[in-house]
Amino acid sequence: DAVMSVKASALIFLLQVFGQSWSQNRPRPNIVMVMSDAFDGRLTFGPGSKFVQLPFVNYLRELGATFLNAYTNSPICCPSRAAMWSGQFVHLTQSWNNYKCLDANATTWMDLLEANGYVTKMMGKLDYTSGGHSVSNRVEAWTRDVPFLLRQEGRPVTKLVGNMSTVRIMGTDWENADKAAQWIHQRAASSEQPFALYLGLNLPHPYKTESLGSTAGGSTFLTSPYWLEKVSSELITVPKWLPLAALHPVDYYTTYTKNCTGSFTEEEVRRIRAFYYAMCAEADALLGQVIAALREIRLLGNTVVIFTADHGELAMEHRQFYKMSMYEGSSHVPLLIMGPGLKSGMQVNQLVSLVDLYPTVLGEEDGYFSKMQHPDWVLSEYHGCNVNASTYMLRSGRWKYIAYADGLSVPPQLFDVTRDKEELHNVVLKFPNVRAHLDKRLRSIIDYPEVSTTVHLYNEKAFIAWQHTLGNNYSKVIGSLRWHVDWQKDALANERAIDKWLSDSL
Ligand SMILES: *[C@@H]1O[C@H](CO)[C@@H](O)[C@H](O)[C@H]1NC(C)=O
Ligand SMILES: *[C@@H]1O[C@H](CO)[C@@H](O)[C@H](O)[C@H]1NC(C)=O
Ligand SMILES: *[C@@H]1O[C@H](CO)[C@@H](O)[C@H](O)[C@H]1NC(C)=O
Ligand SMILES: *[C@@H]1O[C@H](CO)[C@@H](O)[C@H](O)[C@H]1NC(C)=O
Ligand SMILES: *[C@@H]1O[C@H](CO)[C@@H](O)[C@H](O)[C@H]1NC(C)=O
Repeated sequence: DAVMSVKASALIFLLQVFGQSWSQNRPRPNIVMVMSDAFDGRLTFGPGSKFVQLPFVNYLRELGATFLNAYTNSPICCPSRAAMWSGQFVHLTQSWNNYKCLDANATTWMDLLEANGYVTKMMGKLDYTSGGHSVSNRVEAWTRDVPFLLRQEGRPVTKLVGNMSTVRIMGTDWENADKAAQWIHQRAASSEQPFALYLGLNLPHPYKTESLGSTAGGSTFLTSPYWLEKVSSELITVPKWLPLAALHPVDYYTTYTKNCTGSFTEEEVRRIRAFYYAMCAEADALLGQVIAALREIRLLGNTVVIFTADHGELAMEHRQFYKMSMYEGSSHVPLLIMGPGLKSGMQVNQLVSLVDLYPTVLGEEDGYFSKMQHPDWVLSEYHGCNVNASTYMLRSGRWKYIAYADGLSVPPQLFDVTRDKEELHNVVLKFPNVRAHLDKRLRSIIDYPEVSTTVHLYNEKAFIAWQHTLGNNYSKVIGSLRWHVDWQKDALANERAIDKWLSDSL
């Protein structure tokens, strides 16, 4: 396998395909992107995951290029997708949380492809515009600076359904994959124009925990024996955890609000991980539906197929599930690309992120992609729920530097991801020069204290506006959100904490 470095020809290829510089004397290829939710990018590494069978991910890797260092620009659904579709970092579009992302009329690369003569179609989960997700989700994001600590999520659990013949569990995803396959067949028969198809999957995002009521979040890892059989449960390891007292303060807030501070048996953790991997296997089969459709009508040869995800899933690494974290399980996404002119089995070391999928970066003069040379760093940021300080990750070389808030009030973290794959050794005090260098670099890319201030102000303003719409119902409504069990233990004190937060900031 050819391991490519800085000037990753695959990336340049990708940009050329998306941009207008595709060679005139060659037909423009079709473009098909399958974006799953919550797929841990590390599962795509060669020679293939030892934990779970992912035949279609493996197929893409063997025939195309695998990006070994691909990251989300924000480890949560909507902001991540906003970055992917707009090609801009989330602070530039102010995509602060699952509720506040792009305007519905924002220009995406799909729009540009359409303007350039492509027939385009988007199917399944999109989730990049403002206004979506639960009220709990947005209120938790706005109030993350309030100094109270409330459990918001259900404790992660597993649920086994069906039997060895139960294949289609995530029904909506299967319907959408069927529609995508149908659309591919129809397109191929009817049009001279190249097409671009996007299919967004829900899997392997955990399911809503029904027993916790209508406001519950998704903390149920659910699968059937059919998919569980694709997992080598005996190989699954239990991730090491730091003791609770040694967690970074922001991680402690995250673990607490995700309801993971209680004790877990090794068996329980292994089972959650096995179920998560089984859900990845189902996602892989959905990708397979699309690949099979292209193959059936002999379009695979002139179609660029891309598989990626909005973020990963911690699956109990760092004593957490879900994402919202800069640790690898959450921030490292899959990026596999196969297409005409692209060498088989290429592994690309270049650091890339979802903003790189945007087409017009080629034409822009802001220098980001000057001379088609990608910078040797990746920026990811997080401003949403379950994390009580804006978070900024700079990946560069072997380092992952994580700065918070104004850079002073919360200690930063530094990990050598090549040597400390589990990210359990924060070496920020051991390498002050590296820290200083990376912090300076980060500030040259983003004025992060300033961005954090902007988010604080937005949070207060958005919260007050929401409060006003509730009138006399405020106490009842805020007390019945996802955190209601803990809230009700002292509703008055919690309301007072919010009042104080608002008055302190005036
Ligand atoms: C999109 O809509 C917003 C209002 O929601 C408006 O301010 C903006 O000008 C519109 N942008 C475009 C490109 O039409
Ligand atoms: C947190 O988990 C416990 C079980 O460990 C459960 O009883 C409780 O309902 C969960 N809290 C929330 C808010 O879901
Ligand atoms: C599996 O479940 C389906 C649907 O509930 C049922 O029809 C079928 O008989 C079951 N098969 C076996 C082998 O138990
Ligand atoms: C975040 O929450 C943790 C746990 O309550 C607390 O120790 C820490 O001070 C908080 N950090 C900020 C910046 O509010
Ligand atoms: C408060 O709730 C009641 C009952 O659900 C509803 O009729 C009323 O319109 C609400 N008031 C406001 C200001 O939302």
